[in-house]
Amino acid sequence: MKDLSVEGLGMVYELPKGGSVEALHDVSFDLEAGRLLTLLGPSGCGKTTLLNIIAGFLTPTSGSVTLGGDPIAGPGQERGMVFQQGALFEWQNVAQNVAFGPRMNRKKRSETNELVEDLLSTVGLQGFGDKAVYELSGGMQQRVALARCLANDPEVILMDEPLGALDALTREKMQSLILKLWQETGKTIVLVTHSVEEALYLGDRLFVMAPRPGRIEREYELPFAANGLHVDPREMKASPEFIEKREELLSLIWEMEEQIMGHEGGMA
Ligand SMILES: Nc1ncnc2c1ncn2[C@@H]1O[C@H](COP(=O)(O)OP(=O)(O)O)[C@@H](O)[C@H]1O
Ligand SMILES: [Mg+2]
Repeated sequence: MKDLSVEGLGMVYELPKGGSVEALHDVSFDLEAGRLLTLLGPSGCGKTTLLNIIAGFLTPTSGSVTLGGDPIAGPGQERGMVFQQGALFEWQNVAQNVAFGPRMNRKKRSETNELVEDLLSTVGLQGFGDKAVYELSGGMQQRVALARCLANDPEVILMDEPLGALDALTREKMQSLILKLWQETGKTIVLVTHSVEEALYLGDRLFVMAPRPGRIEREYELPFAANGLHVDPREMKASPEFIEKREELLSLIWEMEEQIMGHEGGMA
């Protein structure tokens, strides 16, 4: 099990027409292996940039990220990414999508088939291996995306608004699935979301990020995810403790949005 360490991370994008954007400013944190960290914040506060740097897709302009003490210098299998939607291979069926990683690793076909069957059943899609991606609902597609990520057995799973495109009911079911996977696999997860409720429900740690420059504004340790599978999600979300935290976060984000609007001279 490998801890993730982010140290003095900064990211400045140079704009093609001149000028620059400071997407991240001095972001530092340590995330012990097996934690589920949610990142919440208004659009433009650097959430995607941070995930992409941890994934190794982007090189930061300052600072460093290490996993288990080793510097991250590019993409690697120990860090898997689940995108919002539409990142599956449309020309492959469900089983082929899940088998992609193991096949790239030249795993034996019989082993791969077994793994795919296992993972499809883990995400509640047993018997769907032959289906085409376009035959599946959005929620099912995200189940496939999760299975495809798990097939590489990553240490860290990075999720960029994985449930953002789903309807409310499907989203709740998927939240429970993510909690189940987290508890069963013990993997480290970093999940970006726009939803205050989702960040609170899934995050065993939560960072509220702020924009201009992108940074961590506030950090929370939360009890909800650890109990999430033992208590009815609806009941938990209706509990006084949950509601209190939800209101606190909503006010914080509301203030941020007001400030952003203020900078931009408000809406016309
Ligand atoms: N490739 C890029 N080139 C220039 N600016 C970028 C690029 N990617 C992101 N940005 C800017 O960096 C800031 C943070 O973006 P992003 O990480 O996508 O935030 P979030 O995911 O929180 O919405 C935003 O102001 C965005 O416009
Ligand atoms: Mg984003």
